[in-house]
Amino acid sequence: MLGGPVVTYVELKCPRCGAPLPSTAPTGEMHCTYCAAPLVPSAGGVRLQKVIDPADLPDPDRPRLWLGGRRYVLLGHLGSGEGSEVFLGRRDHRLAEQVVVKVMRAREDQDLMAHEFDVLQKLQRATHQGAHHFTRLLPEPIAHGEARLGVKGNEGLHTATVIRHSPGFVHDFDEVRAAHPKGIHGTATVWIWKRILEILAWMHQTGWVHGAILPKHLLVHARDHGVRLIGFSRAARRGQPLKAFTANAKAFYPAAVWEGGPASPATDLTMSARSMLWLVGSGQIGAKVSDVPKPLADLLMRVAGDDAGGETDAWALLETVKSVAREAFGPPKYVPFPMPGWD
Ligand SMILES: Nc1ncnc2c1ncn2[C@@H]1O[C@H](COP(=O)(O)OP(=O)(O)OP(=O)(O)O)[C@@H](O)[C@H]1O
Ligand SMILES: [Mg+2]
Repeated sequence: MLGGPVVTYVELKCPRCGAPLPSTAPTGEMHCTYCAAPLVPSAGGVRLQKVIDPADLPDPDRPRLWLGGRRYVLLGHLGSGEGSEVFLGRRDHRLAEQVVVKVMRAREDQDLMAHEFDVLQKLQRATHQGAHHFTRLLPEPIAHGEARLGVKGNEGLHTATVIRHSPGFVHDFDEVRAAHPKGIHGTATVWIWKRILEILAWMHQTGWVHGAILPKHLLVHARDHGVRLIGFSRAARRGQPLKAFTANAKAFYPAAVWEGGPASPATDLTMSARSMLWLVGSGQIGAKVSDVPKPLADLLMRVAGDDAGGETDAWALLETVKSVAREAFGPPKYVPFPMPGWD
């Protein structure tokens, strides 16, 4: 028997063709001398390097970014926010889901963007009554962080957030107003406000105040009569002051909250009524409201007051809106809401 230490060695083989590789451990990228497979070191010896050939991708000329280990392709520009450029995207994968990608524009908004992602995650995890239904009406966060730009992720970094896309919610109030310059019809006032109040009622139960219910943060689904809230970066726990305000939107905030007072569900109610008045009053809060029956216009004006006209509960206000609407228009019925492209 031979004495001395036992010598073992690992025979490295090419994972593609099975041919032996040089016995020295690879330290960087190498190629198999038999089949030219690109190889990189890995725990077990070597593995095949995945080579992305941009020409093999669908839409190879479109911008790409990596976030959370997934690559996304940007399909088009949806809008400009205060701190971000917002794009429609899709996971760069077969049968891929569509997403909304918010790419941060100004470094100083980093905290706001991270806060929005955190709030959206907390809302998705909330278990308050109705969570199963209402969480699906809120933006669903997928990933947030430093995104690596480019097909290979080597073209720079940008802070970004990826959110699941809800098809059909395409018109913010700016676009609705542009399509209805004389103000929307009274029946549309009812369903749009009702949808906002339903989501707020659930969100307030979870202890959050949106804090920026503004025309830019309300997306309308014209055919399904749906509304979604976006722009959660200023959300606050009820009773806390808002940490940030949307520039040029002072007229939408209750004065005391704008001056640093605590935010409450009533803050969102006031801002919802002011956004509705902005829409029906063709861009001015409290201007002559066309096509809105007087009891509904009066209710909007009252809730638009700094104290939400004494309203504190979105569910209770929703019931009032329903009964005022029934008096004005009779039982609820579907009245088509014309928007370009959705007729
Ligand atoms: N899910 C979406 N679908 C369609 N358009 C969207 C969507 N999300 C955002 N947009 C468009 O992008 C604009 C800016 O979005 P958003 O307000 O979320 O960005 P932000 O102002 O940078 O963020 P925040 O308001 O949270 O600080 C919106 O007004 C809208 O026009
Ligand atoms: Mg915004």
